[in-house]
Amino acid sequence: MSSRIPLAYNPKVLELFRNPKNLGKMEDADAEALAGSIACGDMIAFYLKIDEKTLTISAATFESYGCAANIAASSVLTELIKGKSLEEAWQISWKQISEALGGLPAVKFHCGILAVGALRRAIRTYFTGKERPDWLPEQLTPDEKHAVEEEKLIEILTKRAERIEGQEERKDTP
Ligand code: FES
Repeated sequence: MSSRIPLAYNPKVLELFRNPKNLGKMEDADAEALAGSIACGDMIAFYLKIDEKTLTISAATFESYGCAANIAASSVLTELIKGKSLEEAWQISWKQISEALGGLPAVKFHCGILAVGALRRAIRTYFTGKERPDWLPEQLTPDEKHAVEEEKLIEILTKRAERIEGQEERKDTP
């Protein structure tokens, strides 16, 4: 018998998980970011089409290798930022995403944080080599730090795996 208890996702999360909006790679994106969650090891890619003159987001898509909550959160986020300025999109928090989804289970908060972190990383990437606007903090925000780049994620996961292996070996030693 399985000891796993199904998570109490609300219907909106389940609906967007089954029929996500704006899912897929954007070939002509103006900014993109691939980011992974240090909490669970899942990855997400975020793509933005940006109007250069008005600095507004005309389209956003995502690819998620995460859970149902992450797919729903990313889907809702791509809808929330469409037509918004980069500054407005930057201000969106994972709590707003959770609200838009009718609430996420506490153990799934990090899945929303991953979506916000990936979006912020994509926005930051857009300004690489350009003048940084006042609203864009010089230092990475906690959401960006949570959503680390692929190489960094692999490094963290490898270290974790080595630590666990070391502990198991010590346990086996009489
Ligand atoms: Fe990894 Fe949700 S558990 S993104």
